[in-house]
Amino acid sequence: MKIILTGIQPSGAPHLGNYFGAMQPAIARQGAADTQAVYFIADYHALTSVEKADDLRRYTFEAAAAWLACGLDPQRTIFFRQSDVPAHVELAWFLSVVTPMGLLQRAHSYKDKIAQGAETNHGLFAYPVLMAADILLYNSDFVPVGKDQKQHLEITRDIAQKFNDRFGPVFKLPEPIISETTGIIPGIDGRKMSKSYDNGIPIFGDEKEIKKPVMSIKTDSTPIEQPKQIEGTVLGQLMQAVNPGEYKKFAAQAATPGVGYGDLKKKLLAEIQAYFQPFQEKYRHYQAHPDEVEAILRDGAVRARELAAPVLAAARQATGLAK
Ligand code: ADP
Ligand code: TRP
Repeated sequence: MKIILTGIQPSGAPHLGNYFGAMQPAIARQGAADTQAVYFIADYHALTSVEKADDLRRYTFEAAAAWLACGLDPQRTIFFRQSDVPAHVELAWFLSVVTPMGLLQRAHSYKDKIAQGAETNHGLFAYPVLMAADILLYNSDFVPVGKDQKQHLEITRDIAQKFNDRFGPVFKLPEPIISETTGIIPGIDGRKMSKSYDNGIPIFGDEKEIKKPVMSIKTDSTPIEQPKQIEGTVLGQLMQAVNPGEYKKFAAQAATPGVGYGDLKKKLLAEIQAYFQPFQEKYRHYQAHPDEVEAILRDGAVRARELAAPVLAAARQATGLAK
């Protein structure tokens, strides 16, 4: 039995980058033969950036409702809230003692956050250790993530190896699953789409909330009467992610004199709405029935704790904490 695992931080509304980079590839694999999918809402991680308790609760609910609405099947997948399984934090401590400081000092995501002026704290610095614990706690084989998480997966493998070298072979080394085409979805300003850059297009939201960012996508100043080159631009990349079958037509339309960026953005908006429309109803259902989401997460946590118990016991045993 192979384990496929991924997590998403409840740090804001899920966006197209989260969906195409992580959610969609994860959901597509939940029924694979001889595979157990383990997907969770990384609320311990989100504590490093979300300051208000009510925000964290709301984002956690929205992230869970979004996964379920987009097709996560809680029968087939172990779906839970990270903080309902405190073993993640216990294992993080075991991993901490074998993690060299230099490994964490080289982490891009930490360096980027500091460069953006984030307050430095130990949680942010130790973030990759907690992430390694998330993955190793379930003996994960595969981890579908966006390209921005590639280094965190390398760090996870390094930490697992260091632990095994020192205490014996407890952990499996996981493999990332990163899509070539949707590994990095650009945001409306051309940087990676991210909740922390406020450059995202939400997958759920009313028409205005989706339209506004789409119409603000950064473009060049090619005048309307001149053909436009869409390849590699934000508009082009988003269309390729949302509807690859329409991309050629879209590029041809862009190259037609008289077609403006406004027209192309409207076309992309229509594609995004059409893609997520079937999920909207389910999302609204969960919004009206938050207790259903809660029950699913609690049931998932029971199953996650069961799956984690032998691995945690092996780590306790190997380190000498247990007889
Ligand atoms: P954010 O960067 O918006 O805070 P998270 O860190 O919660 O998003 O990411 C959750 C998952 O979504 C991760 O697997 C991450 O790699 C993926 N992801 C986030 N942004 C993008 C993006 N722009 N393109 C592709 N995948 C992304
Ligand atoms: N660090 C990931 C992100 O910011 C979220 C995450 C936490 C995760 N734990 C994980 C992803 C374990 C995969 C596996 O996107």
